[in-house]
Formats: sequence, C-alpha cells, structure tokens
Amino acid sequence: SAHQWQAPLLTDSRGPCPGLNTLANHGFLPRSGRNITIPIVLGAIQDGFNFQPTNLMRMVAKIGLLTTDNADNFALKELALHGTIEHDVSLSRNDLAIGDNIHFNETVFATLKNSNPGADYYNTTSAAQVLVQRLAEDSLINPNLTNTIKELTVRIIESGFYLSVIGNVTTGVAPKKFVQTFFEQERLPLEEGWHRSEVPIDDDNFNNLTNAIGVAITEWAPSGPIVCPWIRLQ
Ligand code: HEM
Ligand code: MG
Repeated sequence: SAHQWQAPLLTDSRGPCPGLNTLANHGFLPRSGRNITIPIVLGAIQDGFNFQPTNLMRMVAKIGLLTTDNADNFALKELALHGTIEHDVSLSRNDLAIGDNIHFNETVFATLKNSNPGADYYNTTSAAQVLVQRLAEDSLINPNLTNTIKELTVRIIESGFYLSVIGNVTTGVAPKKFVQTFFEQERLPLEEGWHRSEVPIDDDNFNNLTNAIGVAITEWAPSGPIVCPWIRLQ
C-alpha cells in the first residue's frame, strides 16, 4: 500500500533524523527524500505520527530550510549541516568530528538501547539519564564537542520525539522494542503492535513531556571550546 515500509534506494536522500527518514521510508514524505517543503513536513508528521503543525514544529521546519541554498525546499541529507539543527552528542549518530553524523551507529545507540535495565520501556527518567550519560562518554572521545544550552534544548526535544511519537505523549512511556525498531530500521513498528498516537501531539502535551525530561536532568553545564549558542546558515 501507499504507506508500506520500503528500504531507501541508494539514490534516495536520507539524513540525521530518524523521524523524517522513517516518514520517507513509509511514503509520508517523498520516498526520494528530496523537494521537502515546510507544508510537506507539517503534513507528513500529522499523517504519520498525529503530530500537529505546532509552533515548535513550524519553527524546526523553518530552521531546516536554513541548511539548503534552495528557496523553499530541502533534501533530508542537507539537514546534516553541523550547527544548524544537527549537533554533537546525538543518541544514534556519531559527532561530525569523529566522522559520520548522518548514519545510524550501533555503538552510539547502545547507551539508549541498554538504558532503564530491568524494564521493557523507556520513560522521561531514563531519557534524561541517557542524555547525561551520552555527554559524559562522548566528552572522553571528542573533547572539542559543542555543548551549549542550545544543544541541550534540542537534545531534550528529540528525546521527547521518540517518547511521544513511538510511545505515549501523556505518560512519556515508550516500549523499548518499538523505539529500537524505529532507530535501527527507521520503520514504524506496526507489525509489532505500534499505532499512531490517538492523542494529537500538540505544544501543550509536548511541553509537559519535555519539561519532565528537563527536570530529571539534575546536573548539566556547558562544556567544550564553544559555550555560547550559535546557528550555522548554509
Ligand atoms: C534528530 C525524531 C522532526 C530534523 C532527531 C532525533 C530524533 C528525531 C529522535 C535524535 C536522533 C539522535 O540523537 O540520534 C523526530 C521526529 C520528528 C522529527 C519523531 C517528527 C515528529 C524533525 C523535523 C526536522 C528534524 C521537522 C527538520 C526539518 C532533525 C535533525 C536531527 C534530528 C537535523 C539531527 C540532530 C542530531 O544531531 O542528532 N529527530 N524528528 N526532525 N532531527 Fe528529527
Ligand atoms: Mg548529531
């Protein structure tokens, strides 16, 4: 059917965002991963994830356009422009300085994968702990990583994305199995029992979720050579 998962072709554009890659793999975004406009992104997140065209999402989509020279559309790979949205200390990709900030990396993902031991779900507490742990371990490998309040904010929002879209926006609980399929295969775990959020994800419930992750981060300070937030324009 129209929204069947298909592995991307070698010629298709895919990028550092598992959410948008997944939407493209299911045909909610152009399967080519190209010619993506703001209305196309906002329509796809609604159709695929029941994520409303919120203020946050309109802003993120607009910032995405800063990664391209095109007037009104981008390709998924272009989103990897380091310092626009793409940042160090990702959950499933390496830092650009290490090599590859685009493709899924099993070693990097192991921290999230193995978090919340003894339970079959991730939640806001485990997500916060993963953000702290990733920073600690990545700092040993890349002492020059960028970690300002901007990166922390974006990282908290991205953790909110997997907990809400793959799990439950109200409880902040996401089954491990579903989250792993999402990151590892960039596939919606439909056969495994996942379904699109019944509750529309909006600024209100999503803010509550990211606030819960934020308060569970008990200790954080900017680190690395750059401590002042900045944004890179293509
Ligand atoms: C990263 C999910 C929408 C651009 C991420 C990450 C997740 C995620 C979980 C973190 C990956 C990691 O740290 O390894 C989603 C979901 C979305 C969504 C579920 C829709 C509801 C968007 C939109 C844009 C975008 C609208 C821009 C147009 C990016 C970029 C990254 C990213 C550039 C890389 C950040 C990094 O360095 O880790 N996304 N995303 N995402 N997302 Fe999305
Ligand atoms: Mg990154």
